[in-house]
Parts: sequence; C-alpha cells; structure tokens
Amino acid sequence: MDSKTIDVLSNLEVTAEKFWNVSRQSANFISMLIKIMNAKNVLELGTSNGYSSLWIADALKETGGHLTTIDFWEKRQCIARENFEICGLSDIATFKIGSAYDVVKNEINENFDLVFIDANKGEYVKYFEVVHPLVKKGGVILADNITSHYEKVIPFIDAITNNGCYQVQILDLPDGLLMGYKYQE
Ligand SMILES: C[S@@+](CC[C@H](N)C(=O)[O-])C[C@H]1O[C@@H](n2cnc3c(N)ncnc32)[C@H](O)[C@@H]1O
Repeated sequence: MDSKTIDVLSNLEVTAEKFWNVSRQSANFISMLIKIMNAKNVLELGTSNGYSSLWIADALKETGGHLTTIDFWEKRQCIARENFEICGLSDIATFKIGSAYDVVKNEINENFDLVFIDANKGEYVKYFEVVHPLVKKGGVILADNITSHYEKVIPFIDAITNNGCYQVQILDLPDGLLMGYKYQE
C-alpha cells in the first residue's frame, strides 16, 4: 500500500462512524482474502465514502483486478471518487449510482470472484438472490454487520446457509463478517 493510500485511509478512520465504514480489521481481512484468492473481479454493494472500496481496490492493484461498487447516495459516492483520485486508484473501479438490488439485476452481467455486501441490512436476502448467480464457483460472498444487525440479516443467513452451494462461517470480526464459499454451482 503506498503512503498516499495509507494517509487517506487513516483520515477516513476518524469519521468512520459517520460514514458507517467497515472496521479496519474486516477491511484488512477482505484485502488479504482478495490477494490469497488472486481475485480479479469484485462487486461491492454499499460504497459510502469509499473506505472499504479503497482497501479492495488496493488489493486488486496487486492482482490486476477490477472493482464495481454501487451506492444510491450520490454525495457519498462522489467523496469516494475523490478519494480514489487522490490515491491513484480510479482506473481500478467502476462506480454505479442507484438501488443496489436494481443495479445488479438490470445492469450487471459479469461474474465475480468476490462480492462484498454492505448496503441496506434488511435487503441482504434480496441482494443474495441477485448476486448468487453471478458468483463464480470457487468464489466468495462476504457480508458485514451480521452480529451488529443480526435480526435484520437472519433471512439472508438462512438463505445462504440453506442454498446448498455455500460453505458458511460467521467470522468473529467487529460487527460480524459472514463468509460464504461457493463450492458448487
Ligand atoms: C455501511 S455503509 C457502506 C460502508 C462501506 N462499505 C465502507 O465500509 O466504507 C452502507 C451504504 O449503503 C448505501 N445503501 C443503503 N441502502 C442502499 C440501497 N438500497 N442501494 C444502494 N445503496 C444503499 C448507503 O447509502 C451507505 O452509503
């Protein structure tokens, strides 16, 4: 990670609560996983100001991959774009504005090695419905706020656990990060 990106991420950690950013520990885990998997194509639902997106893009710089990230809050995604410019990572990301469910359903036609779900907690089960067909065999779905918003995400946990294609574990990271490994299609 270069010094500019380290500085930007440190600054963003000061306002993490306001922008609902993922914890540093979870972001670091996601980054390591991308490198371990040699993931090339990553989808993120919930950009905010780009904190997790920057961690993902920085890892994808190493693997030669690309990030698509979606948020319906235009102002926040503009801040994310500015942060990507500062870090020199703009080429690595495509930013899409709109409802995460609608954008995935109507505009996304690619397959992904990794999908990170971090938008509306009550809609996780709907996101799963549309991202599941896009995740490659051997790919991974990650979802944040599994323990912090447990009641809201129960339908999602049930759906991915009972789907039959995923090995699932909730990781003991701040707010709870679910990892689903797609071992068959
Ligand atoms: C928890 S924050 C994302 C934080 C970001 N992943 C990070 O760690 O830096 C959730 C984001 O999802 C967005 N969001 C909520 N519901 C959405 C929806 N239905 N469609 C698109 N974006 C949504 C919010 O605007 C917010 O910016």
